[in-house]
Amino acid sequence: MILVTGATGTIGRHVVDVLSRTRPVRALVHDRQAPWEGAPVQVVRGDYADPRTLAAAMDGVRAVLVVTNDPLRPEHDAGLVTAAAAAGVRHLVKLSALAVTDPDADDLITRWQREAEDRIRASGTAWTFLRPRAFMSNALSWARSVRHEGVVRAPFADAPNATVDPRDVAHAAVRVLTEPGHEGRAYALTGPEPLTPLRQTEILADVLGRPLRFVELSREEHLRRLAARHPEPVAEALVRSAERQLAGAKGRPDDTLPRLLGRPARTYRRWAEDHADAFAPAAAEGEPQ
Ligand SMILES: NC(=O)c1ccc[n+]([C@@H]2O[C@H](COP(=O)([O-])OP(=O)(O)OC[C@H]3O[C@@H](n4cnc5c(N)ncnc54)[C@H](OP(=O)(O)O)[C@@H]3O)[C@@H](O)[C@H]2O)c1
Repeated sequence: MILVTGATGTIGRHVVDVLSRTRPVRALVHDRQAPWEGAPVQVVRGDYADPRTLAAAMDGVRAVLVVTNDPLRPEHDAGLVTAAAAAGVRHLVKLSALAVTDPDADDLITRWQREAEDRIRASGTAWTFLRPRAFMSNALSWARSVRHEGVVRAPFADAPNATVDPRDVAHAAVRVLTEPGHEGRAYALTGPEPLTPLRQTEILADVLGRPLRFVELSREEHLRRLAARHPEPVAEALVRSAERQLAGAKGRPDDTLPRLLGRPARTYRRWAEDHADAFAPAAAEGEPQ
């Protein structure tokens, strides 16, 4: 049995969908409603802070996709590793981030990801690290202003990022979880091309068939907006991460993903076409994932 944690999140949801086409899969669900009903998806409720729920979720499990998302709660990462070892799990596949390989990246989020990788390496359980660049789906944070005003507000208009389609990250995770030979490896997962926020806006406008205006946010404006949604140290780390993009640290595409999947990585245009509804004026309120 394979256990997918973070199963209602951006990557986990796709991983459960793809895995369940060919085999039974267990999905660890926290607060949100599970979108699956019955076989082949076994939904189990759990909380990274509650070892009893983790022990139950890992019973009889061979491999786990590990997805955590709170840099201020490293005990979540530790709890998952401890529960996996106790349950005899043989392979931990961790969703990490490509920033861990950048010697200049020293923000809170990157340090948290490095420490989580170190903890898994030291655990004695076989591991694989998936290290994606920024997800193309982060552009969904623009959906509301695009729908209502035809405006994209973002910092660092000209800073390139080789953003990756989360569906490609999920397909890579499925390969690693189901095939032999990935143990002890770390995979850089990027999209096919470096794109600036300005260029992403142009592509989105082209796909939507209507003009969009780009408004560049200052560092302070960007920080203020992030701080409305995240604890202050996390917001500050996200801004520092964006600043490294400004310095050109995130633009280089990597060929690991196409080699792993046996096909090219999906483009941002393709992602925008597949998610155009989220940006359409009539789309429902509430930011989709
Ligand atoms: N976004 C990017 O551009 C990017 C790029 C590179 C790497 N990453 C990494 O990707 C990871 C996040 O992946 P994602 O975007 O797929 O996740 P996500 O959409 O943020 O979702 C997080 C998932 O974890 C679950 N979760 C949170 N707290 C939990 C708890 N206490 N117990 C059990 N489940 C809990 C959530 O369930 P509830 O919602 O019900 O709590 C949700 O299913 C992070 O490690 C991030 O650093 C992200």
